[in-house]
Amino acid sequence: MKVISVFSEKGGVGKTTITSNLGTALARKNYKVLILDMDPQGHIANLFGVEPERRRILQFLVTGTFTDDIIKKTRIENLYIISSDWSLADFTVNVARHPDRHLKLRRIVDKIKDKFNIVMIDPPPSLELITLNVLLASEGVIIPVALTYLGLAGAAETLKIVAQTRKAFNYAPGVIALVPNMYEDTLNCKELLERLKAKVGKHVSKTIIHRDPEVDRAQSFSMTVLELNPNSQAAKDFEKLADELILRLGI
Ligand SMILES: Nc1ncnc2c1ncn2[C@@H]1O[C@H](COP(=O)(O)OP(=O)(O)OP(=O)(O)O)[C@@H](O)[C@H]1O
Ligand SMILES: [Mg+2]
Repeated sequence: MKVISVFSEKGGVGKTTITSNLGTALARKNYKVLILDMDPQGHIANLFGVEPERRRILQFLVTGTFTDDIIKKTRIENLYIISSDWSLADFTVNVARHPDRHLKLRRIVDKIKDKFNIVMIDPPPSLELITLNVLLASEGVIIPVALTYLGLAGAAETLKIVAQTRKAFNYAPGVIALVPNMYEDTLNCKELLERLKAKVGKHVSKTIIHRDPEVDRAQSFSMTVLELNPNSQAAKDFEKLADELILRLGI
């Protein structure tokens, strides 16, 4: 598996945070990484200080044609991105008459994945056509689970969506891991973690990402927490998660 998405139907659970920090950690370990932003919010470009080209991502997805300059170098060696912008919100309307509209992303990923050791896709928080494209283009998914009552429900729902995709399209990415995020040392959090393990233990990653204000502070400087404060708890967690991922993927 080299094409993975950090996937959840639930918003605000840490998809973009995990994608950007994991991508950074893997690039620093000498893997050549591409982050493909599929969220019209376009946060990835902002986090890595890249100016997004208006409407480029939309043309790229709709027509499937591109030149290599859509892939942007970042300030981190080995880490590249394809940025997104609000035009992506027009995707569904633009491809409404294309019979292969759910496979647009896979076709593109197939053309570029050989240039990288790992491709990470950051999807939007919804269930529409873009999300389906992300699932059908991914070989594996990492599912972030916010350690709250609703976060756990969201994880169960997300696993169901992956299973339903398998039924409907005869294809679904493998579940690499459910990653508990925003862990706090409280009784409630511990209970939620135990409940998650009891339900889907075999999928839950050994690494737990703590809730750490440094994550948000880093983002306010358009940085990952690995860059801003490598000694923070969250930065250490993301390093550990990268090592666990390398083991799980055998890369
Ligand atoms: N471990 C953490 N500690 C502290 N804050 C966190 C942590 N993980 C995520 N956050 C914060 O939670 C918010 C949502 O995170 P993020 O944007 O990564 O989620 P998302 O799932 O990508 O959201 P969306 O569904 O909008 O794309 C951000 O403000 C981020 O800084
Ligand atoms: Mg996001």
